[in-house]
Amino acid sequence: MNWGMKNRISRIIKPGTGHCVMLAVDHGYFQGPTTGLRNLGKTVEPLLPYADALMITRGGLRNWIPPESGIPVILRVSGGQSILKELSNEVITTSIEDAIRINASAITCSVYVGSEYEKETIANLSKLVDEGEKYGIPVLAVTAVGKDMARDARYLGLASRICVETGTHIVKTYYTEDFGSVVEACGNVPVVIAGGTKIPEKEALLMAHNAISEGAAGVDMGRNIFQSDSPVGMIKAIRSVVHDRNSVDEAYGIYVKEK
Ligand code: 5RP
Repeated sequence: MNWGMKNRISRIIKPGTGHCVMLAVDHGYFQGPTTGLRNLGKTVEPLLPYADALMITRGGLRNWIPPESGIPVILRVSGGQSILKELSNEVITTSIEDAIRINASAITCSVYVGSEYEKETIANLSKLVDEGEKYGIPVLAVTAVGKDMARDARYLGLASRICVETGTHIVKTYYTEDFGSVVEACGNVPVVIAGGTKIPEKEALLMAHNAISEGAAGVDMGRNIFQSDSPVGMIKAIRSVVHDRNSVDEAYGIYVKEK
């Protein structure tokens, strides 16, 4: 791995703990004004001091995030579909030149294993890895789950491993029973979990706690942070689980105190 690639990864996955808390706010690229992100800037601004990186589109950045914020950016560069159509029908929406201009610490796309446009989304990842390798920019592959797929270790292991074999530098997938086997299937590639749809705070903390215990490098969480009744409390609590290895009860206490 070249120096630039290692440097960018270390901006995201903190060398001190080997873990990371990514804040995902890229939902609008296919969901439009998602609950909590209509005014993305207002939601994200108080959370920035507690996030290790921000997963976002270039439009999200240019409209709502000041360039002076200093937050490492994981730039969403795939899209082209919407919730009204087939979700797997993604193309690359942002050039590597624009990612470099933005000073992205990583670029990201979704891979829809088992969906109608499976091959095209794997080809998108492949192209990004080729470009990322050229310029020292790591790629985070999201194992996006189509409507008919079971989110079990067998499916997520299959999808994650395909991303690894295609050359991704970080895998983002979902927590599931037997999550350790998914992590094992990814070899040395760090695995982070998405939060998924909003669940009660304590359950989200338990999920993050279990994921870290079973080998995840961190979380790339969105709705379970910004749709919480205390987004700052929740991101602080998640940080304490991910970086300080706090118990779920200790972390929940942080959330309650902040609320
Ligand atoms: C969509 C994404 C989103 O960033 C991610 O799913 C959002 O995180 P969360 O599920 O925690 O809201 O990758 O494909």
